[in-house]
Amino acid sequence: MTRPIETRHQAAKTVFAPAGQTHVFTFWSELTQNQKEQLLDDLERIDVEQLPHWRQLVAGAGPERIASDKIEPATVISRSSISEDIIDHGRSILAAGKVAALTVAGGQGTRLGFDGPKGAFPISPVKRKTLFQLFAEAILATERRYETRIPWYVMTSPSNDEQTQAFFSERRFFGLSPHRVRFFQQGVMPSFDPAGRILLEEKHRVALSPDGHGGTLLAMAKTGTLADMTARGIEHISYFQVDNPLVTCLDPLFIGLHAQRNADMSSKAVPKADDLECVGNFVVKNGRPAIIEYSNLLDEFAHARNEDGTRKFDAANIAIHILSRRFVERLTADRTAFALPWHLAKKKVPHVDLDTGERVDPAEPNALKLESFIFDALPLADHSVLLETSRADEFSPVKNMTGIDSVETSRRDQNRRAAQWLETAGLAIPRDEQDEPKGMFEISPLAALDAVHLKERLGSESVRLPEAEKDFYLGD
Ligand code: UD1
Repeated sequence: MTRPIETRHQAAKTVFAPAGQTHVFTFWSELTQNQKEQLLDDLERIDVEQLPHWRQLVAGAGPERIASDKIEPATVISRSSISEDIIDHGRSILAAGKVAALTVAGGQGTRLGFDGPKGAFPISPVKRKTLFQLFAEAILATERRYETRIPWYVMTSPSNDEQTQAFFSERRFFGLSPHRVRFFQQGVMPSFDPAGRILLEEKHRVALSPDGHGGTLLAMAKTGTLADMTARGIEHISYFQVDNPLVTCLDPLFIGLHAQRNADMSSKAVPKADDLECVGNFVVKNGRPAIIEYSNLLDEFAHARNEDGTRKFDAANIAIHILSRRFVERLTADRTAFALPWHLAKKKVPHVDLDTGERVDPAEPNALKLESFIFDALPLADHSVLLETSRADEFSPVKNMTGIDSVETSRRDQNRRAAQWLETAGLAIPRDEQDEPKGMFEISPLAALDAVHLKERLGSESVRLPEAEKDFYLGD
């Protein structure tokens, strides 16, 4: 039974007033019944017990910087050092149905400027398959290869959940069994003005945004996702971001290594492209594994060199992890006590001026947003593994429409990888003076999951390559 509006209003006032947030009701008397309900819905989504703490953080906001004497480079394990036994172990874990895929897709994708969930962006170089389709095909291909079942959990946020679910339904889950695809929503956080007051997006709406991918852990506990994993016998969660079409969604080597080392949380890294690349840096901080975002890494660390001239802090975070289900259960066992650190970001947030009631579209950052990051769970792991992998094989994210980490660079890198796989399989790819493949190449994950797989598959087949500068696509 729904509670009457006045009861909800009174209840909200008794918690928001002592937290210094009475202004959220400034326009109450002007609102329609529907609008009052919407405002109360928004307010009830906020974890009010945390409000005083958030206010303090916002009021004391300064640049986050890391003291110089406490960090050391992290040790990475190279793929080439991993034995076939470990890879076989990973294959058997996959075959036993103990692994789930988890994609974080709750972000707002503001930089890409695409009107829709980022996963619905058409990214592949020839067929323009969407990010979601590429992941779905990789999951389906892995199910077929290991004759197993792989549930896929997709984390959305309130602003893109409906669109994301509709997108999957319209495309019939890209051939996956709908029973094995589960969506869950992350939490939201209000935006604050510099004095720590919650901003109103409209007179009847709070300015809310997703609480960061660190919210994945609590959301898994609160939404029954963890319980669902337990019921399906899942032990390991292969975690990746929605923005990287080159990700190996389920990597037997990585899974085998993680399990063999009894790790709570494992990560993949690539060597940094340059000192100031906009990525997280794997470090050991106060004796614990950790990631420091590029924006928080002091320049002296970013530019530091080893004696042989190589970069000292060289392991870049590509946001691919394996989490043990038991680790997530342990962290979130006490839901009210568990919290990852909050990171503050200054952002431009449109809002309503409380005096005039007019909407303000700020030209400069005016607000503070708080987000938590999944990688802040790393220091809490008893055991963790850091595996170095190749950028060309596994990392080319789509963050921007043009320039660095863009649609253009990601398509280029997908093309390069497909051409290289075909060459490994023994085909001659025409190349131009810059050694770039002539034309566009795309290999569906349903055709092959890696270069070796492709070679096995093509062993007996004759493949006709296109004439130079024509597109080539290899499907199921
Ligand atoms: C992120 C990492 C960075 C890493 C880089 C690799 C952070 C803070 N930094 O940077 O260390 O080197 O990726 O590409 O994450 N998301 C949610 N909910 C949220 C916020 C984000 O699901 O509330 C998802 C997004 O949909 C996306 C991913 O998390 O899939 C990354 O988010 P984004 O904010 O774009 O991270 P980056 O700054 O690009």
